[in-house]
Amino acid sequence: MASKGRLARISGPVVVAKGLEGAKLYDVVKVGELGLSGEIIKIVGDSCVVQVYEDTSGLKPGEPVVGTGVPLSVELGPGILRSIYDGIQRPLDKIREKSGTYIARGIEVPALERKTKWEFKATRKKGEKIEAGDILGEVKETDVIMHRVLSPYSGKLTDLASGKYTVEDEIGEMEVSGKKVPLKLHHKWTVRKPRPYKEKLPPVVPLSTGMRIIDTFAPIAKGGTACIPGPFGSGKTVTQQSLAKWSDAEIVVYIGCGERGNEMTEVLNEFPKLLDPKSGKPLMERTVLIANTSNMPVAAREASIYTGITLAEYYRDMGYGVSLMADSTSRWAEALREISGRLEEMPGEEGYPAYLARKLAEFYERAGRVKTLGSDERFGSVTITGAVSPPGGDISEPVSQNTLRVTKVFLALDASLAHRRHFPAIHWLNSYSLYTKTLDPWYEENLSADFPAMRNAAMALLQKEAELQEVVQLVGPDALPEREQEILLVSRMLREDYLQQSAYHEVDAFSSMKKQYLMLRNIMRFHERATAAVDLGAQLKSIMGLKVRERIGRMKEIPEEKHKDLEAIYKEIDSEFDALTSRR
Ligand SMILES: Nc1ncnc2c1ncn2[C@@H]1O[C@H](COP(=O)(O)OP(=O)(O)OP(=O)(O)O)[C@@H](O)[C@H]1O
Ligand SMILES: [Mg+2]
Repeated sequence: MASKGRLARISGPVVVAKGLEGAKLYDVVKVGELGLSGEIIKIVGDSCVVQVYEDTSGLKPGEPVVGTGVPLSVELGPGILRSIYDGIQRPLDKIREKSGTYIARGIEVPALERKTKWEFKATRKKGEKIEAGDILGEVKETDVIMHRVLSPYSGKLTDLASGKYTVEDEIGEMEVSGKKVPLKLHHKWTVRKPRPYKEKLPPVVPLSTGMRIIDTFAPIAKGGTACIPGPFGSGKTVTQQSLAKWSDAEIVVYIGCGERGNEMTEVLNEFPKLLDPKSGKPLMERTVLIANTSNMPVAAREASIYTGITLAEYYRDMGYGVSLMADSTSRWAEALREISGRLEEMPGEEGYPAYLARKLAEFYERAGRVKTLGSDERFGSVTITGAVSPPGGDISEPVSQNTLRVTKVFLALDASLAHRRHFPAIHWLNSYSLYTKTLDPWYEENLSADFPAMRNAAMALLQKEAELQEVVQLVGPDALPEREQEILLVSRMLREDYLQQSAYHEVDAFSSMKKQYLMLRNIMRFHERATAAVDLGAQLKSIMGLKVRERIGRMKEIPEEKHKDLEAIYKEIDSEFDALTSRR
């Protein structure tokens, strides 16, 4: 029940209330005359420490604090997609409509639009036994996504009818341990508690991202975790947006923790304009954006990743593949640090609280491919990629280090590559994926039996190149034997004709797995034939002069429907080398 207390102390986003009877840890409270939203994060005797999600300036001791008795929760139901929320799921456009700014205070706006009537089609019947997580029916949430309405309870369905409903209307009724409870299109879930599932499944299916450096050399599993640490301007945001656009996930949850207000404004303006390459419709039709600008209160930023992951889990539970992006988690960690400082906690490394590692681990642990609750066989996944912006690009700092410890894919953005305009500036030698082994059977079965071996051979060439380049620095390339010069030639092809990929090129922005295979196979075939030719005494100069090299250089521009052209290049390689070696 609502208990009432008084403000005793105010320190930025952290305030202390006294006299809140019966208050529980993580309960939401309304702070001050304005009724600002906050959450109890510590209780000491009669004092409740509250982090406030809104600007606290002007608050005075003695103002009222009212407990709501409920923990910080999100509303789960149709209307989430296409929304742009703040860190505690308040729709930004509604806040602006009401107040003229994105960061007004004390405004109550429901997360889900209350007036919209959704067409609900029941798929279960009165009298049926229902398990929690069962699909009760469907609502077409957007042009591309069918929202599956999940039962929050187990029990007997005593009433359910198709029809047009708002999220607050009753769509039916259930008997739950002898009590009748109404069913609605939405329910609430507390953000700090992971949504349950039946079983976590091994990471054996890759997320197709369309980015060759990732899918080929550092694959992300569906339900896996990846981090993208990188210095200023190295491509974190572009990479995350490419993943949002091109990954074969059905739902995108994008959490923007902006360092600068204007960068976030960019996301707010740009994202709604992005078109979904698969449907031709706006990407927002299957996206939810959570936005924090640097001028928004830090506590809301702290909450934003929990809000985001809970929304992601909800769509996972419907049986969808969800891709969650957080850009950048460093800004989230800084919020944590600021709040911890206000709490006068003992600071750990670089002022971050000692529990930074645990919090990061808990967040990434909410990723996974799962068998969902419910009586039918449903599978869903949440894949998390977090950008990290280490100051000065030095990843020895705590946020990068603690993230690296828990994420399984490391995409190493490299300032010198970005400088040379090698994009994506993800370094092939420093990046890794711990999923490679568990994913290989998938690649063998669904792409080609020789793909893993081919990929390993290509990586070995790139490693060899790095060694040879050290020699070249000392003595120049001509001092190397022809065979090693050939390795330099092919590894350069790998870098320029394969790994470089423009996020802005109409065709090149996305490569299917099949296209990646055909492209890589051509380069490796070239290598095979070139080595053999060198061994037969062919001059590297004449190999470099082969016409097919130029064709290989333009493979990335060959559209998906023309895989045949890629296969034709393979034949050209063979015939040009045949001619070259027979000429001798
Ligand atoms: N894959 C890519 N293809 C083409 N250009 C790219 C690619 N990735 C990055 N770039 C270029 O690099 C610029 C900076 O990238 P981005 O904004 O993603 O960096 P960031 O790491 O997010 O930087 P910040 O630290 O400022 O947030 C882009 O504006 C673009 O010009
Ligand atoms: Mg960025």
